[in-house]
Order: sequence, then C-alpha cells, then structure tokens
Amino acid sequence: MLRSTTQSLPECGDVPRHIAVIMDGNGRWATKRFLPRTAGHVRGVQAVRRAVEACGKRGVEYLTLFAFSSENWRRPQEEVTLLMRLFIQTLEKEVRKLSDQGVRLRVVGDLSPFEPKLQELIHLAEQRTAHNTALNLTIAANYGGRWDILQAMQRLLLARPDLANTPQAIDESLLSQYLSMAYAPEPDLFIRTGGEQRISNFLIWQLAYTELYFTDGFWPDFGATELDAAFDWYRSRERRFGRTSAQLAQQI
Ligand code: FPP
Repeated sequence: MLRSTTQSLPECGDVPRHIAVIMDGNGRWATKRFLPRTAGHVRGVQAVRRAVEACGKRGVEYLTLFAFSSENWRRPQEEVTLLMRLFIQTLEKEVRKLSDQGVRLRVVGDLSPFEPKLQELIHLAEQRTAHNTALNLTIAANYGGRWDILQAMQRLLLARPDLANTPQAIDESLLSQYLSMAYAPEPDLFIRTGGEQRISNFLIWQLAYTELYFTDGFWPDFGATELDAAFDWYRSRERRFGRTSAQLAQQI
C-alpha cells in the first residue's frame, strides 16, 4: 500500500487521496472570544466531524489528524486532562456514526501513557470499524515523527536481527513497512490551520513530497468551504517529485 514518492510517481488526481492535518488555533479561537482555551478544543471536535463528512463526500481515501503530539504533555495539566476527556467522550459518542458513514478509524502514536480506559476505547473503536472502506481516518495521538522513525527502526531490527550486521541492506521501502502508517499512501496534501508554517514533528518521513498548505483560519472555523479552498490550491500545484516539467509531460 505504501508507495514512496522518492521512488516512483504516485497517481495524482484532482482530489488528494490522503490529507494530513495539523488542527491548530483552538486556543486562540477561544481566547479571542474570552473563553477558556478548552472551549476551543470542544469546538475543534465539531470541526473534526465536518472535515470527516466533507472528505467522505469528496472521495478522499485517507484523512490523518494530529490530535495530540508527544510534545503536548508540556501543556497545563488541566488542558491535558480536558483533551483526554474529549478523546474518551468523542470515541464513546461517535464510533457508531463513523461506522454508519463507512469510516475506518485507527489511532497511531505511543498509546502506552494513556489511561487504560482510553486505550481500551481506542482498541474497541478500531475493531468495530475495521471492516469499513469508505474513508480511512487516522488520529495521531501522542505521536511524533521522530518517534515513528525510531520505533520503525527498533521493530525492524527486532524482526530481522541479522540486519544489524548488514545495515546496507536496509532501504527506504523496507524501513517504511515498519512506520506506524505503513497501511496508507504518503499524504498528497498537508493542511495546517492557525497561521503557523511548521511541520511540528508530524509525519516527517511521509511528508517528503507532500504539498504544504497553510491557512490563517483557526481550526474550530474549518469546514467544507475551507477544505475546498485547500483543494483549489492543491489543483494549482505541479507535483514534480524531483523531475522537470518536461519529463512530467512525457510521463517519464
Ligand atoms: C492545537 O490548537 C490543537 C490541539 C493541540 C488539539 C487538537 C484537538 C482537537 C481538535 C480536539 C480533539 C480531537 C479529537 C480527534 C477527539 P492549540 O491549542 O495549539 O491552539 P493555539 O495555537 O491557538 O494555542
């Protein structure tokens, strides 16, 4: 399933197959309204619902959302607690609806520090939606791109201890089979809301040739209109993957 953009040209249609999103600006959305930051996260969940629905309708195959980074533990304790509670509530409330929409849910990241109840809900939600094929929704939670590459290397060497003596035999396609999103093609389009222009340790391996779209709007205001604006921009890009325009025209 995983096709590396550094090796072969993936198909590029008008609708991106895989979109990866950093949902930024929840706190500022709330502060601007004299509300606690946590109110922004609550509204952020509504935007997640809208994004899932809009992606499903437009034929996106994979939607990956950065919900909690390995660095987000540094936030004030009450905000971390609220975010965990939101994950739990959202999983409890939304899994049936996701399933009705044909959404397959997966959660990637180091889940071991999460409370057992949350880990159990994640496991159940993944099981319950495993047969769905309309949209692959991945939530990255306690995720970091560097963690992902490290865990991939560690799991590869555990599975193939012989490679420690022949490291030159490790290539991109072998290592990428051990990344936590090995089931998905690399993202075609990356969206970051909230005005910052950074990758913030999200999918750093997989974003090598992804088109990067940054918008000033805050995540709680994101919906179908904002998604279509990102698609319009995406369609205007020429994706060359290291080749020249002339080569692309000849499909080399
Ligand atoms: C970034 O905004 C957002 C987060 C760290 C959390 C994202 C979480 C949600 C949208 C809600 C939960 C999602 C699911 C899938 C249940 P920020 O707080 O950094 O905003 P700021 O930059 O304005 O401070």
